[in-house]
Amino acid sequence: MTKQVEVRTAAPYTVTIGSGLLPAAVDALPEAAVRVLVIHSAPMREQADRLRSLIEASGRTPVLAEVPDAEAGKTAEVASFCWQVLGKSEFTRTDVLIGLGGGAVTDLAGFVAASWLRGVGVIHLPTTVLAMVDAAVGGKTGINTGEGKNLVGAFHEPLAVWCDLDFLSTLPANDRVAGLAEVVKGGFIRDQRILELVGEHASALRAETLTEDALAVLSELIARKVQVKADVVGEDLKESHLREILNYGHTFGHAIEYTERYQWRHGAAVSVGMVFAAELAHLAGRLDESGVALHRELLTSLGLPTTYRSDKWDALHTAMRRDKKTRGALLRFVVLQGIGNPVRLEGPDPALLTGAYDAVSKAPEPGGAVALG
Ligand SMILES: NC(=O)c1ccc[n+]([C@@H]2O[C@H](COP(=O)([O-])OP(=O)(O)OC[C@H]3O[C@@H](n4cnc5c(N)ncnc54)[C@H](O)[C@@H]3O)[C@@H](O)[C@H]2O)c1
Repeated sequence: MTKQVEVRTAAPYTVTIGSGLLPAAVDALPEAAVRVLVIHSAPMREQADRLRSLIEASGRTPVLAEVPDAEAGKTAEVASFCWQVLGKSEFTRTDVLIGLGGGAVTDLAGFVAASWLRGVGVIHLPTTVLAMVDAAVGGKTGINTGEGKNLVGAFHEPLAVWCDLDFLSTLPANDRVAGLAEVVKGGFIRDQRILELVGEHASALRAETLTEDALAVLSELIARKVQVKADVVGEDLKESHLREILNYGHTFGHAIEYTERYQWRHGAAVSVGMVFAAELAHLAGRLDESGVALHRELLTSLGLPTTYRSDKWDALHTAMRRDKKTRGALLRFVVLQGIGNPVRLEGPDPALLTGAYDAVSKAPEPGGAVALG
């Protein structure tokens, strides 16, 4: 069944979640769009070709730009290649771009759209769970530089987002599970039904192959997490107050990613980051023990990591201090004042930080966890 979530920003748009959505996505292209540039990487070549045929059949001119895969595509050189393609195909202000791929491609396509002619329309067709529930929704776009990830970018909301679940049939289970970490985050900060659904269906959600029932649950979870993000960004487009709650688990998670030189999947790092934040909240007297236990239980049941090596505190602390979410000299965290109620914790006592680190670096990892690192 197809679900729709409205994102009520200055220019509202719809996120559609369902199966077999490509023809509808092409039908819904803006009338004035004559040329459509599809940005994709090699693993999505077949789907891009299908899209090309559909665009052609709609009487428009498709242009395909195949870019390097994953983070290798999020560079100034690749953005410049896309601008060249746009220039050569005489792309105008009323034409549109499509970002077809994981979060790396939707970030790049969004950035290229934001910068071409000072902003043209972009439609996202995310193909990973992470891109569906996070990267493609909310208008943050960006590329990396030698100095770090996502340092160059712009806020540029898409015209529409189509989450076609058919894409997920080829997504490796570990990537699906990594994306589910962001879904669980949505449960902890806002929609507790997400936590119930994950609790009930964890083993089916992490299985190598998804059954039809599991796909239906996954579809419900994706729609619910998109709703959480839509609610938050609808109220606060530029990252300031409310939007900050989306960073739950990310301060420590980003520090792990940085320390591991980005060899850990984002979702795996955020998973440990959420347990760290839960322990911190507990030590600060805001979250009870059962709330912390729920973090470990749900994340472990999905096969996500909940611990990190115990000899890296200095590196992690330094990385957290340079995280772009740090304001001034104070470390800032989002913690839960009870499940579903995120609040900001600024400049916590260093003893609380090391206490939370001890708790995540020593906590036993229950057996059977998938190594997502
Ligand atoms: N803009 C935002 O708000 C936001 C939020 C979160 C993450 N991001 C960004 O998203 C990126 C991570 O996204 P990701 O996890 O989707 O990774 P990704 O885009 O790097 O994709 C991971 C791999 O999966 C492949 N892939 C994609 N879809 C597939 C499918 N259906 N079947 C098989 N393989 C498939 C990709 O080609 C790639 O090799 C990062 O660059 C991150 O910075 C952005």
